[in-house]
Amino acid sequence: MLVTGKQVLDQANKGNYAVGAFNVNNMEILQAVVAAAEELRAPVMVQTSEGAIKYAGIDYLSAMVRLAANKATVPVVLHLDHGTTYETIIGCIRNGWTSVMFDGSHLPLEENIRQTNEIIKIAHACGVSVEAELGRLGGIEDNISVDEKDARFTSPDEAVQFVKETGVDSLAIAIGTAHGKYKGEPKLDFDRLQTIKGLLPDTPIVLHGASGVPEDSIAKATKMGVNKINIDTDVRVAFTEGVKSVVTTSDEFDPRKICGPARDAMKKVVMSKIQLFGSANKA
Ligand code: G3H
Ligand code: 13P
Ligand code: ZN
Repeated sequence: MLVTGKQVLDQANKGNYAVGAFNVNNMEILQAVVAAAEELRAPVMVQTSEGAIKYAGIDYLSAMVRLAANKATVPVVLHLDHGTTYETIIGCIRNGWTSVMFDGSHLPLEENIRQTNEIIKIAHACGVSVEAELGRLGGIEDNISVDEKDARFTSPDEAVQFVKETGVDSLAIAIGTAHGKYKGEPKLDFDRLQTIKGLLPDTPIVLHGASGVPEDSIAKATKMGVNKINIDTDVRVAFTEGVKSVVTTSDEFDPRKICGPARDAMKKVVMSKIQLFGSANKA
């Protein structure tokens, strides 16, 4: 069934687990994600970036994901990942998305708050949940200095002000993860996470850039109050390895025999993430 982000994330916060949010660009990825969630009886978030919408079309993604969600016997959220423009966000709300992220993380705090509030006013009037982001992800090296950390990572005081002045449904924070493949091993700032969650116990916390983060760090972050975990790269890698396993070893040219193994490989990865996040059997 299709549900809002707030429905699954408030439950996750109460139950102390995280819901997996997987980026989807085509039918095979969508089917892999929903099949994995169904098999493990887990709530799940299917998320589309602005790039995914450009690639597949807002109408195609809307129709495909809502069909999959309506057929599913577990809660499925259709979420916009990293929405940056008013046009995309309103377009998603009009096309049936049940959750949107407004990413104003590059903006000064006051402007991020102001623009997030504009989105929340419209989204909430339409029954759509909102995720916002505070702090900067990406390009984070292993040995980051304390000064650099304070400049890039989410400030606990600002997080409190942000939530108080917006009433946002969930908050993405920067504690040491980065999008894409890591060069070294990411080291998460758990003290910062603990401080932020301690100050905002009722706010579901979101972790972006979770592909490639060691399993023990993910498990620890989940126990400490992260309730939504974004995965894209690890599923992309599974897709590509699945395709390569066929095309580099045969003369196969039937797309179903190339994409089928890729879909199976992605489902396995999604299932292992769901188990790790603690959301299996929470549907
Ligand atoms: O955080 C970004 C996601 O991995 C989406 O990436 O913009 O290439 O679709 P994309
Ligand atoms: P990864 O590609 O690092 O898994 O990040 C996904 C993400 O944060 C999507 O918003
Ligand atoms: Zn992200």
